[in-house]
Amino acid sequence: MANILCIGAGYVGGPTMAVIAKHCPQHRIVVVDTNEARIAAWQSDQLPIYEPGLDEVVRCARDKNLFFSADVNRHIAEADIIFVSVNTPTKSFGQGAGKAADLQYWEKTARQILENSTSPKIVVEKSTLPVRTAEAMEYILNSNTDGLHFDIVSNPEFLAEGTAIRDMEKPDRVLIGGRETPSGQKAVQAIVEIFTQWLPRERIITTNLWSSELSKLAANAFLAQRVSSINAISALCEKTEADVSEVAHAIGLDSRIGHHFLQASVGFGGSCFRKDILNLVYLCEYYGLYEVAGYWEQVIKMNEYQQARFVSKVVSSMFNTVAGKRIALFGIAFKANTSDTRNSPALAICRALLEEQAEIVITDPHAMDNARIDLADAATQVAFESDPYAAANHAHAIAILTEWSHFADLDYETIYKSMIKPAFVFDGRNILDHKKLHAMGFNVYAIGKPSLTQLPAN
Ligand code: NAD
Ligand code: UGA
Repeated sequence: MANILCIGAGYVGGPTMAVIAKHCPQHRIVVVDTNEARIAAWQSDQLPIYEPGLDEVVRCARDKNLFFSADVNRHIAEADIIFVSVNTPTKSFGQGAGKAADLQYWEKTARQILENSTSPKIVVEKSTLPVRTAEAMEYILNSNTDGLHFDIVSNPEFLAEGTAIRDMEKPDRVLIGGRETPSGQKAVQAIVEIFTQWLPRERIITTNLWSSELSKLAANAFLAQRVSSINAISALCEKTEADVSEVAHAIGLDSRIGHHFLQASVGFGGSCFRKDILNLVYLCEYYGLYEVAGYWEQVIKMNEYQQARFVSKVVSSMFNTVAGKRIALFGIAFKANTSDTRNSPALAICRALLEEQAEIVITDPHAMDNARIDLADAATQVAFESDPYAAANHAHAIAILTEWSHFADLDYETIYKSMIKPAFVFDGRNILDHKKLHAMGFNVYAIGKPSLTQLPAN
């Protein structure tokens, strides 16, 4: 039996530890956080995040071998293995502001571990970190004067929100990096043994520490690059009457390209792609690799361009003004099946439309509470409606910003009748049946597709 601790009860710490607890009943797992409200929510029936399948996994292990607590120090003292899954946002101040990772929570955790430890421990980097962070962690922890030895292991998390439980249950791979010393390898083996409780050994790959840290940043950069690549092509499609879905299908059938992550959209959002690419850009600049930095930075610029392009399309197609017009935003989460709105393209688009003095009404099945907090400064200009039909009532336009599947199943005849005419639909996720909507009378604009309008061509 091992005492496993996870510091950070967020989108990663909560779901990953719940799945580990489910598969390792012999281990005692505690998840701690300084945010007491978050811990209270993990202990209640109203979990702090929406994630399909999460409730069930938490319910099956909680208070048996899975515990949530705000008493960080006590649990550090008791732990044999500590996963650190605290937030590592983009630095907003000082050197590297706007690009480098803000490692203050990370370093605070390291010092807290040092202060509260009376026995040797394995410390596992679960957070996404710049390559060579483990070196600093090792240095801080092994600076103790009590002769305690700490092994640092990197085990980056590849789960995506919305599919976190499935990704943990059946990951493409688990990556574990460690030092090539006997004690480093022993620590790696201890982490391997946790995952082999439910995964075949060949699904788990072990590398050196730096490859493991860098692989996480590289994986996110490659994924985001695919979205920016297809979105770049979507802009060209709109000029040439090519259809981006047809292009994505045609190129995705080439097995060297593959069909994943070629869904054109209003751009990628979420808490990680942007920050991790910026982190990579900063690292490249730090090492004097300016061309490499510029190459990756373009992935972000393309993403910002895609959002700006979408807003311009809304404004220009609605006769160059949306001032005073009611626009219903269908979806505010950064993707479907999550309550997370961090860095959501929908929020950026909402703010740009507010700048144009549009009246915004937002509907989303799970992300409205977060959106209310995000948009608190604009509370008088934004309305929230849990019912999409009510949101669309008397609206001039609907903009689909998150690919929640039920948005595709609504009765658009009824919606059309309740809207101001001419009625517009801007499908930022290409999930609707555009020809059908056009036949109903809508003016339809999608990403990377010819527009279908009732208006005279200009
Ligand atoms: P999050 O903000 O949801 O959770 C982090 C938690 O850590 C917060 O609840 C915060 O209160 C807590 N925390 C911060 N400092 C602490 C301290 N000293 N002691 C105790 N608790 C502390 O973040 P997240 O989305 O779970 O991401 C965590 C890390 O995992 C990040 O590095 C992120 O890049 C990475 N990651 C995230 C995802 C994802 O899908 N969200 C996927 C893979 C990797
Ligand atoms: C992403 C990665 O997929 C995970 O492997 C990684 O662990 C995680 O980041 C992380 O490090 O946090 P996540 O951000 O949760 O996961 O969600 P994704 O499914 O990757 O979607 C990211 C964004 O790209 C969303 O806004 C999504 O709508 C958009 N996207 C994705 C597209 O626009 N088109 C696509 O084809 C795919």
